[in-house]
Amino acid sequence: MTDLTSRKDEALAAIAAASDLAQLDEARVAALGKKGWVSLELKSLGQMSPEERQQAAPAIQAVRGEIADAIAAKKDALEAAALEAQLASETIDLTLPAPQAPRGTVHPVSQVMDELAEIFADLGFAVSTGPEIEDDWHNFTALNMDESHPARAMHDTFYFPDAAPDGGKMLLRTHTSPVQIRSMVEQGAPLRIIAPGRVYRSDSDMTHTPMFHQIEGLVIDKDIHLGHLKWTLETFLKAFFERDDIVLRLRPSYFPFTEPSVEVDVGYSMEGGRRVVGGSGDDPGHAWMEVLGSGMVNPRVIEFAGLDPAAWQGFAFGTGVDRLAMLKYGMDDLRAFFDGDPRWLAHYGFSPFDQPTLSAGVGVRP
Ligand code: PHE
Repeated sequence: MTDLTSRKDEALAAIAAASDLAQLDEARVAALGKKGWVSLELKSLGQMSPEERQQAAPAIQAVRGEIADAIAAKKDALEAAALEAQLASETIDLTLPAPQAPRGTVHPVSQVMDELAEIFADLGFAVSTGPEIEDDWHNFTALNMDESHPARAMHDTFYFPDAAPDGGKMLLRTHTSPVQIRSMVEQGAPLRIIAPGRVYRSDSDMTHTPMFHQIEGLVIDKDIHLGHLKWTLETFLKAFFERDDIVLRLRPSYFPFTEPSVEVDVGYSMEGGRRVVGGSGDDPGHAWMEVLGSGMVNPRVIEFAGLDPAAWQGFAFGTGVDRLAMLKYGMDDLRAFFDGDPRWLAHYGFSPFDQPTLSAGVGVRP
C-alpha cells in the first residue's frame, strides 16, 4: 500500500515537473502505458482471488484516475503556455511599413511624356492624338510635301499594301505632324495642342530605331508671330531641364509645312562624359546641339486643313521624346529603350507611386 502511494507521488511529481509535452508523455507511458506500472498493477488483479481483487482494485483504480486527471490537467496547462509564448513572440507591429511587393517601373519615355504634358498644360495646351496607321494625305500631302519629297520614298517609309479610302497609300506615320492637320480639321481655330506619340521610319543604328517617339506642338490663333514660338520653346525647355540658363539658337531651315522654318539648338557642355544642357553654345567648353524643328505654319497647310489663312496663323514644332529623355536622364544608347531588359528598366525607370511632375517635385528620382 505504502508502495502504491509513494509510486503515485513519484508519478505525480514527474507529471508536475514535465516542462513540455514530450516529457509529459514520458511520464504517462511510465505509469499508464501498456507496460507502465499502473497497467501492470491492474493486470495483476486478474491473478487474484475474487476477494483479494475486491480489496485491492479500488485503490489501484483511484491511483489510475488521479494520474490520468493530473496528466490531462498538465497537458492543458502546457498547451496554453505554448500558445501564450507563440502569441508573445508573434506580435504584429501595425506601425511598421508593409513589406514591398515586387512592382514594375514607369518607362522613361512615359515619364517624359507626362512631364511634357504637364509643362504644356500650364501653358494652356491640350493633348491631341492621331492614328499611327495614317494615310499619305494627312502624313504628307496636307503638310505640303509633294509627290517628289524624299521622305515619301519607299525605302524611308513603311507602307501598307491596302489603299486608303481616298485611293491613296496607307503607312505608319513618319512624324506626329499629321496630328496638326487632324486637330485643325476636327477642332478648328483657335487651337493650342501638343501631340505626343509613336512614329516610324526605316532607320536603324545606335541613335535611330525604326519606331521612336515625337511630340508635336501647334498654336493657331490671330496675330501669332515668331516671338511667341521662341518664348514658348524657351519656357518649355527651361521647365523641362529645370534650368534657367538654357540658351536657344534659332537657325533658318526648311520644312515644307512651315514658312519660315527654324531649327532650334541648345548650348551644352560635357560633364563626366555626359552632355549637360545649359549655357550658350559659344561659351568656352560648350557647343550647340539641335533639339527641335519648328516654324510658322505654312499658309498652304492652314488652307489644306480647311481654315482661312488670311484670318489664322500660327506656329508648330516637333521634337524627339526619346532624345529629350536621354539628355535629361543620361542614357547613351537609344536601342536599350526598346529592348525590354528588366535591369535597364529597374535602373532608369520611375516609381509608379512617386512620379516627378511639376506639381509634385520635378525631376525627383525615387
Ligand atoms: N515633323 C518634323 C520632323 O519630324 C518636325 C517639325 C514639326 C518641324 C513641326 C516643324 C514643325 O522632323
